[in-house]
Amino acid sequence: MIKKETIDRIVETALIEEVVGDFVQLKKRGTSMIGLCPFHNEKSPSFNVSPSKGIYKCFGCGKGGDSISFVMEHEKYAYPEALKYLAQKYNIEIEESEITPEYQAQVDRRESLYIITNYAAKFFETTMWGSPSGQTIGLSYFRERGFRDDIIKKFELGYSPDEWTALQDKAIADGYRPEFLEETGLSVKNDSGKVYDRFRGRVMFPIHNFTGRIIGFGGRTLKTDKNVPKYVNSPQSDIYNKSNVLYGLFQAKKAIRDVDNCYLVEGYADVLSVHQAGVENVVAASGTSLTPEHVRIMARVTKNVTILFDGDAAGIKASLRGLDMILEEGLNAKVVLFPEGHDPDSYIQKLGSAAFKTHIELHQQDFIFFKTQILLKEATNDPIKKAAVIRDIIESIAKIPDAIKASVFVRECSALLNVEERILIAELNNIKLTKAKKVYNATRSPQPDSPLPDSPQLDSPLPDSPLPDSPLPAAIEPDSPQPEARSPITDEYQERELIRVLISYGDQLVNWDGMTDTYIGPYIITNLSDISFNDKLCERIITYYHDELDKGIMPTEKTLIQHPDKELKDLVISLISSPYMLSANWYDMHHINVPDEKVNLKATIMGAIFHLKKKKIATMIATKQKQLQADNSNEQELQLMKEYLQLKEVEKYISNYLGSVIIK
Ligand code: UTP
Ligand code: MN
Repeated sequence: MIKKETIDRIVETALIEEVVGDFVQLKKRGTSMIGLCPFHNEKSPSFNVSPSKGIYKCFGCGKGGDSISFVMEHEKYAYPEALKYLAQKYNIEIEESEITPEYQAQVDRRESLYIITNYAAKFFETTMWGSPSGQTIGLSYFRERGFRDDIIKKFELGYSPDEWTALQDKAIADGYRPEFLEETGLSVKNDSGKVYDRFRGRVMFPIHNFTGRIIGFGGRTLKTDKNVPKYVNSPQSDIYNKSNVLYGLFQAKKAIRDVDNCYLVEGYADVLSVHQAGVENVVAASGTSLTPEHVRIMARVTKNVTILFDGDAAGIKASLRGLDMILEEGLNAKVVLFPEGHDPDSYIQKLGSAAFKTHIELHQQDFIFFKTQILLKEATNDPIKKAAVIRDIIESIAKIPDAIKASVFVRECSALLNVEERILIAELNNIKLTKAKKVYNATRSPQPDSPLPDSPQLDSPLPDSPLPDSPLPAAIEPDSPQPEARSPITDEYQERELIRVLISYGDQLVNWDGMTDTYIGPYIITNLSDISFNDKLCERIITYYHDELDKGIMPTEKTLIQHPDKELKDLVISLISSPYMLSANWYDMHHINVPDEKVNLKATIMGAIFHLKKKKIATMIATKQKQLQADNSNEQELQLMKEYLQLKEVEKYISNYLGSVIIK
């Protein structure tokens, strides 16, 4: 078991921003840092890291914790594995006290799978470097293909003996359990129950996860027999999911960050050759076609991808459609095509590194232009085909989230396609409008106002700002009050409830995150900065409170009761003497007796804030809907729909939080 002192040292040393920074691109935002959440799919960042508190929190999916829990969650490590990972990262020597049965029990199945996979990798490596057949067959194969020893070592390549049970015999003799060999697919069982090695007589490419642990293999045959599959890959297992692992990423990630670009190639050999050519920012989606997860993983390290295509025309056309997802994820995609019959590996081995780099320089092209040209080639002199090409290209452009970037592509494609720009723009708006309508309609099914069984996670620590940075979309002014929208939706009730909570508890401390105590009043005021009150008296109290805080004075119930402004004073007194209530189910969910809301102050305060925000959003949504019913131009309608959908997003976020409304 790891000693307490070691754990303390790790906790003190591991800086949250560095630990998270290995996986997530973080940007500074005030005193905290923000990035795209690695635990759920998102396009705008809601993942917050607070260096001063040493914690992270995602406002989208709710995950949060410290350095250790981040590593556990992200790498699916058990607690001791996470500690070991951090110890290694920070060069901290691990001191272990005697291994207890509990610790033994903690070393879970996953760890066993990692261990056996690593064992196999070492076995293939030593076989290649240390056995006669390994050297004469495996090593000499790699060398003949032109791979240098340092690259062979860096990628931990190996060779599997051409025998039925070499690995499994050795592993079992060394005390490893057969079940783990099978679970990682290193052993296979045939129909008659015979168990044998999956990889036999193949050169081995170990596949690493992001942190460098080996999780699977690709094995290439040395035979030219067409009936033998060229590559055999590890099957999916609890530690290997091919749709979210990029071959070479572990070795490439530093270079990718440094040059802010990633080359995407098709094969294992391509990764090695390109890397060897000195271009180390290269990865491949091994043994599968590119998935959105792959793209998201890349996007965490860089926003710029350059796809290096083998020179095989049929293959390219087939893969074009699938590559739109790169645009959809908001990345900049470029393409380089290699001459017919060449892949990056064969090109480098034949023409050398310098020629390779020159080729990339000269032939890289934006993905959209590349696609346009490829498709146009087939459509010459065929107006019907050409119309289809235009639509196809505009559909790709419609997937680019950045409107400015998209408009640049429209302009340049108009030249390539020889079509007027305004026609393309009209087409683009059409596609966008159709898409927005689909989403819009999907949100308009009736919304029952019934409580959900699962309650919000208020027991878990909340960071100092549990709201996304700007919960109200920037494009929309937080309410020039809409007179006609005031009824039937009135927010007076929620406004007063919030003021009541502010008056009653503003000068009390609450511990949001288990570490620091925060005053409730300033906290509420900060979280209301984007809200304007309809009730002018409420507004005045907020302003007063705000001004006092600015002067360094903490208003209390008492000072408010004694306020010279008679109107204000009356409201204060009426509020604190006849408590308003949050919706009854909010109290139920948090097991709060109505007379005793102090038991869970966090829930009371968050309830007050969010119920008010929900009301405000509902008003804004109603207004937006009304505007949508008016006669609008296509552009206006598109803009309104966008705003409407943004509001719905915020509403969904708030409702999830309140756990009280189901919104599709
Ligand atoms: P290629 O057939 O282009 O092979 O497959 P390659 O990478 O150029 O390999 P060499 O140069 O002949 O050694 C591209 C990738 O597709 C996957 C592998 O990841 C391979 O690197 N693949 C290919 C398989 O998984 N299984 C196969 O049978 C073939
Ligand atoms: Mn090849």
